[in-house]
Amino acid sequence: MYRRSIVSKVTQKKPLSKLSPLRAKSSPTTENTNEQTAKFEQFSSAQKAYLDRVVRVDQAGELGADYIYRGQIYVLSHKHPHLRPILDHMWKQEVHHRSTFNNLQLKHRTRPSLITPLWKLGATAMGVVPAMLSPEAAMACTEAVETVIGNHYNEQLRCLANQFNMEKTDGTKDEPEEIKKLTDTIKEFRDQELEHLDTAIKNDSHMAVPYKLLTEGIKSICKVAIWTAERV
Ligand SMILES: [Fe+2]
Ligand SMILES: [Fe+2]
Repeated sequence: MYRRSIVSKVTQKKPLSKLSPLRAKSSPTTENTNEQTAKFEQFSSAQKAYLDRVVRVDQAGELGADYIYRGQIYVLSHKHPHLRPILDHMWKQEVHHRSTFNNLQLKHRTRPSLITPLWKLGATAMGVVPAMLSPEAAMACTEAVETVIGNHYNEQLRCLANQFNMEKTDGTKDEPEEIKKLTDTIKEFRDQELEHLDTAIKNDSHMAVPYKLLTEGIKSICKVAIWTAERV
């Protein structure tokens, strides 16, 4: 139910007033070396800045997810061995997400978040502390994190679809190949995050005590972390 409601949100076209500057004219300094993107208008400086922001925040977020699951595995795998394969499966997917965004960071020459050590520390605590309370609390943490990340990826997909439908030299409009690839990557990862959300619910996240306090607190922390990682 959670997953369906999050997936359906991406199909709704919301007005993106705060992102309207992304439609600004091309910067004369922008270079597109890819043969496919050479057929398009150059990215505007606002579009380039937005792509930088996407890569920076998603790399920081996936790094955080990697550390959250490591923390959960460290605490839970001995006392609750039946959870080990479940956690391992999710962790391996997060490692793949992280390495994909590491590569995109190099490709786009995007600077990493300046407070990466803080993300590592915070994410480790977010994995370890709820897991020390109970396995259900760890799953409630996963539910909260993946809910926020699912929504975050959907917001990015809406923005990419709205802001990168660009004019080609022949007058037609389409998305540049690198935007299509990035969109496919985010969709794939969004779907996997929502599988993690389903897994958490199936493993009794709602039985955590105190469920509301844990999930709402963690959601708020994640939203602040996303806002910060986009900018710092
Ligand atoms: Fe992820
Ligand atoms: Fe995830």
